[in-house]
Amino acid sequence: MTSVQASLSAAGSAALKTRTPLLWLNPDRAQVLAQGEDSDFAAAQARFARAGALLGALFPELNGTDAPIESPLLPVPRLQESMGLPGGSGKLFVKADHLLPIAGSIKARGGFHEVLAHAEALAITAGVAEPGVDLSVLSSPKARALFSSRTIAVGSTGNLGLSIGVLAAALGFRAVVHMSSDAKSWKKDELRRRGAVVVEHAGDYAQAVAAGRAQSRDDANSYFVDDENSLLLLAGYAAAARPLAAQLAAAGRTPSAKQPLFVYLPCGVGGAPGGIALGLARLFGSNVHCFFAEPVASPCMLLRMATDPGQDVSVYDWGLDNRTVADGLAVPRASALVASRIANVLSGVFTVTDEQLFSGLLRAWECERLEIEPSAAAGFPGPHWIVSSEVGRRYIEAFSLEAQLENATHLLWTTGGSLLPQESRRRLREEARLMEAPLKRHG
Ligand SMILES: Cc1ncc(COP(=O)(O)O)c(C=O)c1O
Repeated sequence: MTSVQASLSAAGSAALKTRTPLLWLNPDRAQVLAQGEDSDFAAAQARFARAGALLGALFPELNGTDAPIESPLLPVPRLQESMGLPGGSGKLFVKADHLLPIAGSIKARGGFHEVLAHAEALAITAGVAEPGVDLSVLSSPKARALFSSRTIAVGSTGNLGLSIGVLAAALGFRAVVHMSSDAKSWKKDELRRRGAVVVEHAGDYAQAVAAGRAQSRDDANSYFVDDENSLLLLAGYAAAARPLAAQLAAAGRTPSAKQPLFVYLPCGVGGAPGGIALGLARLFGSNVHCFFAEPVASPCMLLRMATDPGQDVSVYDWGLDNRTVADGLAVPRASALVASRIANVLSGVFTVTDEQLFSGLLRAWECERLEIEPSAAAGFPGPHWIVSSEVGRRYIEAFSLEAQLENATHLLWTTGGSLLPQESRRRLREEARLMEAPLKRHG
């Protein structure tokens, strides 16, 4: 057992071990100054802008249009009503990354960015492209010939593999995706259909990543996308901040001292929520409050942040089994790189049960006709934690937000689901209804 800092109380430790949902507040969250864009984040945004025509040409489902890797910001009044938040709690929105084109999940932001950056670097070194040009050049015959002798590999629970595999294969690379036992079979089928090699592992996410890393190390022509340790992935996720700022401004919700923004982000290894939290902190400083959401069986970031950083803690050390319906969040050990970067930015982490995930998935469908996967519903209990719980109120008081709460924006980041096959969607909703039925009978 690792040592526990004061930040995780005895009650918190007990809740973690008994898989009881809890909200943990980060004692190291500091007043963060809005510093403007980080240069790596701005470069990622520019790279996405230069990739629109390339993606439109590579993916027939885009019908030849330039596809920004972007998703809508949606007001969700019916969902808000169904949540029964107290009056004066602010307004609820969804950032709909489940609708991101091509790969259908938040992992496309980081994954596409790293594949594009790697392909661009290879092309520049080989004299096939110039720095800063439109990336359509990456689909030229010369570029394809260059990529055909190269491998891009990744380890994944599913969605990162899907993003990396789909784009790498479309560019002409050999794409090898090491999948953990949690990965859904439709994700593996989709990858194979798109020309990627899928290597199935009996072990968990950490083992799939380790296997991919080891195999790639022995092959000089193989490039490994390291989900646990990649600044290029992080920059791709962080690039979400600027377009979101424009969407918030258009909705009259620009974060400010008077109008705080609370963001609820599903967390696996931590790259996606970490990158977004860092990107938003650069733009809005302390006026944005990012809370991560993790399954009760896999609270790996909570453990890493709340325990001695010298210990490479895993959820198994705490007697947890890492088994959850949220396949994308079934990660035993959080990224040390991300944890160190978000130390002063993260507001807190809460945990969710599978029942809460099913309930969120069903509500998203019944109230707003949003089709999401279980991982994407992890953030849904967030607003209640903040406005209705004792721990949440402690946070509001600590940052003197009482008077501003009625102007708050609450943002649920729905992180995946639009590629789910119809049959899986139907079955998930069925399961959710069966789960809710006894609850409804008892009022
Ligand atoms: C749907 C979904 N949401 C959230 C995440 C969390 O991202 P990260 O593992 O970078 O924390 C994942 C990861 O695969 C995912 O698939």
